[in-house]
Amino acid sequence: MKLLITGGAGFIGSNFIHYWLKTHPEDEITNFDLLTYAGNLESLKDVVDNPNYKFVKGDICDRDLVFSLVSGVDLIVHFAAESHVDRSILDSSAFVRTNVLGTQVLLEAAREYNKRFHHVSTDEVYGHLGPDDLSFNENTPYAPRSPYAASKASSDLLVRAYYTTHNLPITISNCSNNYGPYQFPEKLIPLFISNLKENKKLPVYGDGLQVRDWIHVDDHNRGVDFIIQKGKIGETYCLGGKNSEIPNIELTKKLISLMNKDESFIEYVKDRPGHDRRYSIDYSKATRELGWEPLVDFETGLKQTVEWYLNNWDWVEHCKSGEYQAYYQKQYRKN
Ligand code: NAD
Ligand code: DAU
Repeated sequence: MKLLITGGAGFIGSNFIHYWLKTHPEDEITNFDLLTYAGNLESLKDVVDNPNYKFVKGDICDRDLVFSLVSGVDLIVHFAAESHVDRSILDSSAFVRTNVLGTQVLLEAAREYNKRFHHVSTDEVYGHLGPDDLSFNENTPYAPRSPYAASKASSDLLVRAYYTTHNLPITISNCSNNYGPYQFPEKLIPLFISNLKENKKLPVYGDGLQVRDWIHVDDHNRGVDFIIQKGKIGETYCLGGKNSEIPNIELTKKLISLMNKDESFIEYVKDRPGHDRRYSIDYSKATRELGWEPLVDFETGLKQTVEWYLNNWDWVEHCKSGEYQAYYQKQYRKN
């Protein structure tokens, strides 16, 4: 099989490429990525010499390039996106362009050549939950609350519409918060590890009692594989962690303890506007229909993740050598 992976230089996409080349060594992968601030070829240095791996730099909004790449593959796995909620609050333009328009261009190409299309999406399309609400599932109505979530919801609806209108062979996954190696240090876990390592404060938004459901990136990517192999065309599958719902402040304290620091590093800062209170995923459809469930225990996965960042400090430092400092100042300036 020949796969076109969009956004393969990002966090989840690069882990997916490692995973896929290991588990399906006969398949050919083209990684198509614009290398925005979040794209990093250093995350793929282990696979560059693999004859079944190829990288193409480009924009998913570039219709001619997208059509020529899609024509030569069997399957598109679409990870490329602007993915950080805080950046979408500062300026949503790139989110609408990449997440909505880029997905539409890919869908048009997939339609032209009738290719299987797997769309990687998020649980944030479902909005947020109160402490006693039932978990999100595939039938939860869409209610996105951030510009990022709204752009992903728009892309999901386009993907669904191409199935209904054009019979395009699509599947969608909506997954909760991923953690693991190669995540850009703007997201909570790598940001806090990096700040602790540099003896900087940990900016906890609001009261720190927002709850996230954490899944190891390898479990997410195994789930995408299961959907590609066994998923029913036209269907959506929710993926999430097992017993891994945790308030941000508790997660922060776990990271502090894993890094042998103390709680004086915690600094409560102004809340994120429109901050989603709780995410929780019911992944029973994926278990029932595909036989998938997450395997990585959260405590073990978190410990290994901390170790990975500390052992790959060059990778972190290179991420922070670009526009990161300007972003950090803008996002975390005192007001
Ligand atoms: P990321 O920000 O780490 O990586 C995104 C990648 O897309 C980067 O390599 C970037 O260069 C590339 N890209 C951006 N704009 C592009 C364009 N116009 N053309 C081509 N490439 C472009 O994101 P991530 O965290 O790896 O997320 C990947 C996907 O998974 C996204 O669609 C995201 O919505 C979804 N998702 C993420 C999470 C999570 O916790 N990170 C959870 C559920 C779903
Ligand atoms: O649920 C899936 C989503 O998870 C993905 O679709 C997104 O791409 C991904 O970024 C993630 O979104 P979150 O907004 O939940 O992730 P983030 O790491 O930005 O924040 C996690 C929680 O930590 C959230 O409640 C906000 C809080 N936070 C985050 C940062 C960066 C802080 O308190 N301080 C911070 O500095």
